[in-house]
Amino acid sequence: MKLIISVLITISSFSIFAQNTEKLALTPPMGWNSWNTFQTNVSEDLVKGVVDAFIRDGLKDAGYNYIVLDDGWMAMERDAQGNLVPDPKKFPSGLKTLSDYIHSKGLKFGIYNCAGNKTCGGYPGSRGHEYQDALMYASWGVDYLKYDWCNTDKINPIGAYTTMSEAIKATKRPMIFSLCEWGNSEPWKWAKEVGQLWRSTGDIYPCFDCEFKHDNWSAWGIMKIANMRQDNRRGAGPGHWNDPDMLEVGNGMSISEDRAHFALWCMMAAPLIMGNDVRKASKETISLLTNKNLIAVDQDSLGMQGFRYSCKDSMEIWARPLANFEWAVCFINTSSKAQKLSFNWQTEEIIDNVFKYNINAKINTYKIKDLLKNTFILSTDKPLETTIPSHDVLIVRLSKK
Ligand code: GLA
Repeated sequence: MKLIISVLITISSFSIFAQNTEKLALTPPMGWNSWNTFQTNVSEDLVKGVVDAFIRDGLKDAGYNYIVLDDGWMAMERDAQGNLVPDPKKFPSGLKTLSDYIHSKGLKFGIYNCAGNKTCGGYPGSRGHEYQDALMYASWGVDYLKYDWCNTDKINPIGAYTTMSEAIKATKRPMIFSLCEWGNSEPWKWAKEVGQLWRSTGDIYPCFDCEFKHDNWSAWGIMKIANMRQDNRRGAGPGHWNDPDMLEVGNGMSISEDRAHFALWCMMAAPLIMGNDVRKASKETISLLTNKNLIAVDQDSLGMQGFRYSCKDSMEIWARPLANFEWAVCFINTSSKAQKLSFNWQTEEIIDNVFKYNINAKINTYKIKDLLKNTFILSTDKPLETTIPSHDVLIVRLSKK
């Protein structure tokens, strides 16, 4: 009898924990990560400055809460007990103190490591130290782990990521687990039980549509990334998300291109992890990153990833079903010149063949809100006619009248 009771208690505490980890990311995680701007040049001062900017510029109020240290936070060697050691020059007060500071401002602390023997930057990886590292993170109050895929020889990704996921669960500290194996082994088919988000593509690069070649790999512009995986929508939903990589908003593209990038990431239900130097961001950049209408699309409770409905004459049309039978629709002008748009809702029915939703403007009249201008424009009774500047977007929300 005693045995049965203790088995039942164990099972129920595991299932409560499983429910809690599901609840960690009912909508796509939002935050900031050091990599895109700072690579391995991270420090305590940088993180504190970022925390301050989160509060000062309304990023926290807009929903951004995770502050994630990417590669480069460690010393080059583990200590004599095999523990990871934060680089003492970069983090003189240690990571627990930094984590306490982040938490004291109502924010959450994330960290990076890798499934291989070394991280992509050559720092100690977690292979063979998974449980030890997870316990260390828990003792520092870590809330989010990004887990990379360099120097993994030929190990099995499902096994490697499951081991780390189990190690996190064993600490009993809720931590978001962000898988970063670039979509190589199609994690949208298996990682739902393992973590809350997984990279679906290679690394992003701050350009509209370029391929940036490194020695033996490429980084990709925003349109390349958005169009790279058209087949993974079924994998996304509340608690588990496809991650087309961190944002490059504010990192050198034009403001039109930044708008297109941010709008597309919201259409894709992407995690919104800023990658710019938020301490020095322009007003224009902050105002885009905190746009309530766009964030509401990204964070929509239905959690359905949008899809490319059409691509004709350098105009891409993306659509995303939202809760309460609303829709977001995004028109992107990918050409180098301004283009006229004429879209007749009466003759073009947008159908989501995967989730079986449709915009039927013959039966329903939808009002249309321009999400960037924050104004209502006509309704679906009339064709939508406008001009979209080069590399810019019109993103609208449709709701039934
Ligand atoms: C890989 C990841 C990046 C970043 C670097 C760190 O390239 O995809 O996002 O974490 O490693 O070295």
